[in-house]
Amino acid sequence: MKAAAPGKIILFGEHAVVYGRPALAVPVTQVSAQVDVSPSGRPGIWIEAPGIGLNAELGALPAADPIASTVRNFLAALHVLPFPDLSVRITSTIPVASGLGSGAAVSVALIRGLAGVLDLALSDAQISQQAFEIEKLHHGTPSGIDNSVITYQKPVYFVKGHPIEVLSVGRAFQFVIGDTGIQAPTRDSVGDVRRLREAEPAKWEAVFDRIGDLVRKARPALENGDLAQLGTLMNENHALLQQLTVSSIALDRLVDAARNAGALGAKLSGGGRGGNMIAIAGAAGAGGLARALSRAGATRVITSSVQPQSSRGSMGAS
Ligand code: PMV
Repeated sequence: MKAAAPGKIILFGEHAVVYGRPALAVPVTQVSAQVDVSPSGRPGIWIEAPGIGLNAELGALPAADPIASTVRNFLAALHVLPFPDLSVRITSTIPVASGLGSGAAVSVALIRGLAGVLDLALSDAQISQQAFEIEKLHHGTPSGIDNSVITYQKPVYFVKGHPIEVLSVGRAFQFVIGDTGIQAPTRDSVGDVRRLREAEPAKWEAVFDRIGDLVRKARPALENGDLAQLGTLMNENHALLQQLTVSSIALDRLVDAARNAGALGAKLSGGGRGGNMIAIAGAAGAGGLARALSRAGATRVITSSVQPQSSRGSMGAS
């Protein structure tokens, strides 16, 4: 049973989303986590993830290991006893700690793979909820946006603690993602923002409010296909993320390079400090933008797009 889950990118609202403001995110199918789960003749549940040097039986893995926890939580939630003998192989093309949702994608693909091989039906809501439990191990206090957009594989408008809203996009548009090549754990930047807010709540709540206002304006711009407006709002969102101290010299360099190359707008995406930025291509197209980002030092550039009727379930279990 093979299963896959895409990466994701946050268009607007990271960090403020942890404090109840809305955020917008879209799936990125150019990168994915892949899982192959099969019944095995060897006793136990053997998990192999060559990318992170993992090759062990479930019982040998620590309680807090995210992959082992995904398997254990799944089996417990669905009352699977005794544990079946399985062999699980996990690979991923999503860079880790880079704001593209690698942890959530592995969780979602793994849950789909386990459900498939054991012939158990799970709703998207159940899959997303199980992946959210694992996000807590990765991030400490996640908002839940990663597991939501990666499970549903559609553009989403997300408010923590509320049912997700899937958006229909008014017009196809291309965006380019540039990687600083610097790994930066989301847990750290989220923790730093939390400390800022604890020290001066009124000041930072006001910044979160301004980010929330941008996201509420970005939603109709996305639904109506107003790309120029989206670009302007992205630039404003980046400035507020700079105030939150989560940008970096490398991110600002890529954002500036994108704007100078004709992007309609650009901002960091995700936890920040390193990881990825996103830019919306203008009339000149994504090619020149991608080259400009590479010249400015991006270690990897992904060109992706959002389509008006993005087809559901292009990645799932088979
Ligand atoms: O996983 P990342 O790096 O894309 O960051 C998630 C976005 C944050 O708002 C910073 C954290 C969260 O849980 O929403």
